[in-house]
Amino acid sequence: MIFAANFKTNHTRKSTELYIRELNEKLGTKNPEDKIYIFPPSTALNAYEGDFTVGVQNAYATQNGAYTGEIGLEQLDEFGIKTILIGHSERREHMGESQEKVATKFTFFREQGFEIIYCIGEPLYIREKGFEAVMQYLLAQFDGIDIMYENIIIAYEPIWAIGTGRSATVEEISTTHRALKKAINDKPLLYGGSAKPANIKEITSIAGVDGVLVGSASLDAESFSEMILS
Ligand code: PGA
Repeated sequence: MIFAANFKTNHTRKSTELYIRELNEKLGTKNPEDKIYIFPPSTALNAYEGDFTVGVQNAYATQNGAYTGEIGLEQLDEFGIKTILIGHSERREHMGESQEKVATKFTFFREQGFEIIYCIGEPLYIREKGFEAVMQYLLAQFDGIDIMYENIIIAYEPIWAIGTGRSATVEEISTTHRALKKAINDKPLLYGGSAKPANIKEITSIAGVDGVLVGSASLDAESFSEMILS
């Protein structure tokens, strides 16, 4: 299974260091087949050591240059970062990233050989329209995206389940993942949206779920390791 921690705008460089120390202590007994990813805020990127991969939550599609407030490849190379999250609904929604911008970013980082966790997800009003509308909405988020890319992991994150404490139901995850798996030619597919210690077993037991992308419940090393070890 894949367990990815998305810190979003939480944690500092100092608290990330402490977090990683605690995680390393706790994960001594983890199943060697499980893969762990940590996405700290950009200010806390570093060449940390341990049985996990550190990725960046966002970067600009450039080597370097005049893009005030952004970081590019040069800043990622310093710490050997080769993994990126692209298409998260919070960036689409709050930072106005259109599908076109998301696709441009994807293509750039694909050409750089990055491992890409590519996020898709529907808002509540689409879910309420029914399954067909959901699939149509999700598949449109593959526009301009090379889903056959060898280093892609897809994360299905229904927007209404993110940070709300209310995960999608087993039935909702199961039917959506089954349909998505066909569309993505069986690439790894994560679920995200209020995954936590209390529901992790249930979620990871669903066919077509290859892991989870975790926000809130990943902020505490104890809770995240409990999910990995459960
Ligand atoms: P959540 O966030 O676990 O807090 O719902 C998931 C995500 O946005 O990746």
